[in-house]
Amino acid sequence: MPVVTPELLSRLLTPAGAEALAVAAELGDAEPLAAASAVRARGIGAELAAAALTQASLRGRAAMKFGPDATRMFFTRPGLEQATRAEVAARRAARLAAAGARSMADLGCGLGTDAIAAARQGIRVHAVDADPLTAAVAAANAEALGLAGLITVECADATTVEVERYDAVFADPARRQAGRGRVFDPKSYSPPWDFVAALPDRVPLTALKLAPGIDHALLPPGAEGEWVSVGGDLVEAAFWCGPLAREPRRATLIKPGGVSELTGSGVAAAPVGPVGAYLYDPDPAVVRSHLVAEFAATVDGRLGDPEIAYVYTDDPVDTPFARRLGVTDVLPFSLKKLRTLLRERGIGRLEIRKRGSALVPDQLRKDLRLAGPNGAGLVLTRIDGAPVVLITTTA
Ligand SMILES: C[S@@+](CC[C@H](N)C(=O)[O-])C[C@H]1O[C@@H](n2cnc3c(N)ncnc32)[C@H](O)[C@@H]1O
Repeated sequence: MPVVTPELLSRLLTPAGAEALAVAAELGDAEPLAAASAVRARGIGAELAAAALTQASLRGRAAMKFGPDATRMFFTRPGLEQATRAEVAARRAARLAAAGARSMADLGCGLGTDAIAAARQGIRVHAVDADPLTAAVAAANAEALGLAGLITVECADATTVEVERYDAVFADPARRQAGRGRVFDPKSYSPPWDFVAALPDRVPLTALKLAPGIDHALLPPGAEGEWVSVGGDLVEAAFWCGPLAREPRRATLIKPGGVSELTGSGVAAAPVGPVGAYLYDPDPAVVRSHLVAEFAATVDGRLGDPEIAYVYTDDPVDTPFARRLGVTDVLPFSLKKLRTLLRERGIGRLEIRKRGSALVPDQLRKDLRLAGPNGAGLVLTRIDGAPVVLITTTA
């Protein structure tokens, strides 16, 4: 059974489809087979029932990214995975509007999240996606959210768009992971990287959304690189080109309590010194934006090793940019000595974090044969190139 096709989507957009969606929504978390027969019992055909139930389930999952809008929007599974979170899209749109963008081309618009956020800032958007179903979903979303007057959706190859007609251009290219690991090959981007990288020469107000693993060397000259995390998870890199650039690098941390931004050159070096009583494990947005030195300055801290992004201080400093831990012990790494120490202290639970260590935490936990009622933190790292282990408390 196809999850959704352009034909099924157009049926979902009819009054009968709206009724099927309403029935599917009422069923909430019902067991799938029971839900399917309950929808069909209301006289709704099997295909439409299945499509409505799929949408209901995707809407449930999408609530995390889109909040209340999710109950009115349409989704495809891959589209939802790739979609920008609403709060990230809203911040981007506000920055584009503040820079004077009144019209924008959204190249590779996906489900239309960024186009919707821009339209809500009063920007007229020409949204383009090469995939017919995805483009149809984007159009349905613009309509469902009352923004069809500001958003036109075209199913086309982004490389054919006359971008010079717009004040701004935004591109969020699709990307396939090249091989394993976290390294992304920009050559596997679609539309192709060469096309994307040339956009700032054609439209000065260009913003790009890229995988967080993108190489800083790919930043166009003079552009700002921003790395964004939501709730401590790194979600994207954004390149702000031309007049949109304000600082060489920015880390933006979005948390339930508010947004914190750190800016800087991305090339500064932090002072190096001894391990202190407090360790700061910076948010991934700080690390990926190469702003560890700028962060260290905010807490008057130092690195224990020039290559490793752990910052130390002697006194505790509150910061939104890092997780702070109290350091109780610093030991050269020795499995035997560590096992003895943890036994003596009755430590049966360990939260292990590491930077610059090849040890595998799960294996180490097994090898330590932990026993006891107490919990502690363990940090595996290097100081002056030598493996060390820090025992930590939450501070
Ligand atoms: C990462 S998604 C965009 C997600 C979107 N920003 C959102 O928040 O929903 C990339 C999109 O680019 C589209 N795409 C890939 N190559 C394209 C091309 N050459 N022209 C137009 N669209 C393309 C894909 O179909 C996909 O929907």
